[in-house]
Amino acid sequence: MTGSGGGFGTLIKKPVAWCVLRSDRYTLELMESSGFYTMSYFPEEYRDQVIYLGTNSGRDSKKMSELKLTVARTPSGNISFEESGLLIECRLVQSSTITPADFFEQRAKDYVRESYESEHAYRKYVFGEILDIWLKR
Ligand SMILES: Cc1cc2nc3c(=O)[nH]c(=O)nc-3n(C[C@H](O)[C@H](O)[C@H](O)COP(=O)(O)O)c2cc1C
Repeated sequence: MTGSGGGFGTLIKKPVAWCVLRSDRYTLELMESSGFYTMSYFPEEYRDQVIYLGTNSGRDSKKMSELKLTVARTPSGNISFEESGLLIECRLVQSSTITPADFFEQRAKDYVRESYESEHAYRKYVFGEILDIWLKR
């Protein structure tokens, strides 16, 4: 899937990447069952493929076989893409459901409350320990 919300930092003395995922993302299911995942960053020329990954769910489509990117694997066997310019491999550390009460600004509370209106549309904060990074030069 395509994700835009998130960042990098340190958590429990580990370098981590964090992202915000809707709780019904098929990708999140795969991350939680495997315990590992990768994040791939692409050059501009692959924008259409990134949008494709972000507008089709792997749950009800053959997204991966219709994708015009080359699936590759990290040495540990996790899935990535050859076209990626930056690849980050993570071990899942924490996945926490956020609630309106967690926020101190009304605008944020309203945003999170709205996301609870449809079932499974609420968000989770997902933290992964950064295990490896590959940068194409
Ligand atoms: C530019 C862009 C950014 C996105 N960012 C996020 C995000 O941060 N969190 C999220 O849960 N979904 C995000 N999405 C939506 C998912 O990528 C989309 O729902 C995808 O189809 C989920 O695939 P899956 O069901 O196979 O996991 C984004 C989509 C696009 C196009």
